[in-house]
Amino acid sequence: MPRNQQSFVCQSCGSVYGRWQGRCDDCGSWNTIEPEQDALAAPSSGKKTKARGLPIEGLTGHAAPPPRFGTGASEFDRALGGGLVPGSALLVGGDPGVGKSTLLLQTAAAAAKDGKRTLYISGEEALDQIRLRASRLGLEDAPLQLAVGTALKDILQTVKANKPDFLIIDSIQTLWSDDIPSAPGTVGQVRACASELTRYAKNAGCTVVLVGHVTKEGQIAGPRVVEHLVDVVLYFEAENGRSFRLIRAVKNRYGPANEIGVFEMQGSGLKEVLNPSALFLGEGDEDTPGTAVFAGTEGSRPLLCEFQALVIPSQLAQPRRTVVGWDSGRLAQLLAVLSARSGVEFGRDDVFLSVAGGLRITDPAADLAAALALISAKEGTPVPARTTAFGEIGLSGKIRPAAQGAMRLTESAKLGFVRTAGPAGLESDTIPYVPLSSLQEAATWLTGS
Ligand code: TYD
Ligand code: MG
Repeated sequence: MPRNQQSFVCQSCGSVYGRWQGRCDDCGSWNTIEPEQDALAAPSSGKKTKARGLPIEGLTGHAAPPPRFGTGASEFDRALGGGLVPGSALLVGGDPGVGKSTLLLQTAAAAAKDGKRTLYISGEEALDQIRLRASRLGLEDAPLQLAVGTALKDILQTVKANKPDFLIIDSIQTLWSDDIPSAPGTVGQVRACASELTRYAKNAGCTVVLVGHVTKEGQIAGPRVVEHLVDVVLYFEAENGRSFRLIRAVKNRYGPANEIGVFEMQGSGLKEVLNPSALFLGEGDEDTPGTAVFAGTEGSRPLLCEFQALVIPSQLAQPRRTVVGWDSGRLAQLLAVLSARSGVEFGRDDVFLSVAGGLRITDPAADLAAALALISAKEGTPVPARTTAFGEIGLSGKIRPAAQGAMRLTESAKLGFVRTAGPAGLESDTIPYVPLSSLQEAATWLTGS
């Protein structure tokens, strides 16, 4: 391709088009296609190397688990599946202001104190700003090396001379390579810089963390192109106005995905939350109808949280349905199943359902707890005190078995609950268990009629 040819690149997935169009055919996003010069040009210097045969080996042989080093925070280690792997590249994405720089400065300082040669390169903040933050976090004494820069070639030269074990680039969107004519932050630049740094990680055995901002649409600029280049993709998330933060692995070549770590943003930085269930349980007002505790899971960890429902006669022609922290489609389906299978009608009521603590629940086993909260609110009967519930409800009203049942029971017992209601067919030796096979049975158990 001639160097001055213009192509049009989707800023979300990196697909390249010959002319502009409103919607990307590959990822379906609208208005993400931007003109870029020469986006396909290889970022290399163009020197040719001689072809050579690749060594071929079998499956047997050295297969030791990768050596890992800790991040200084067990919640972060947990999200990573046990710590950072030398020679791996990671992407940490999140909204501006969520605390990515804080988290990585704390991690870098912990690694440096632990004897890892750690280099933190910022393209966003001046050295004094980073020092100020470090002193606020009480980390001034960490033997951390800092640099400020945005030109990829300067960064590569610095790291090749400095040979760090652990390198943090804050953020990938500020970097630019002069092999690519487009502006910093565009897909072409992000892809070229991320792939160079990933290659450096592999070749030098250095752990490289790339920080990435999420755009307003909820995507890292060029997310797919960066996500498939790196070994681990983590998202750092906050719920509106809450001080807790979740770090979630969405891709992990060295461990399970969907693991979460929980932190709380305090005046002196991010503190780990080692018992997150306690954070998400509500006030525990046991006599109020409309609350039910869900014995949930996130990744491989149990997480208890409380559903709160309010059901009041509606003044509107079309009653209101409001849900916070859960899927509104799921609520609509549950209300339909409740009406069809257990005879509890919500047709003339406004229904409000929310998850206490600001957590967003995706676990399909949340149905039973949500249903109990709704029936309890409608009928005015509180759910028995110190009870947790879990189970997925199908359209037939049957309560289906859920994954990780035993872990849900153990966590309920550990946090002082005295009984758990869930799908039939599960044995419990940790906590008294109420097996429920259908929604009808659940309604009868709750209301006693
Ligand atoms: P920051 O790490 O700069 O976010 P990001 O790199 O993701 O853009 O965090 C910024 C926010 O965190 C800022 O609004 C202030 C807050 N914060 C605290 O509450 N306590 C602290 O100790 C620090 C360092 C930041
Ligand atoms: Mg930052």
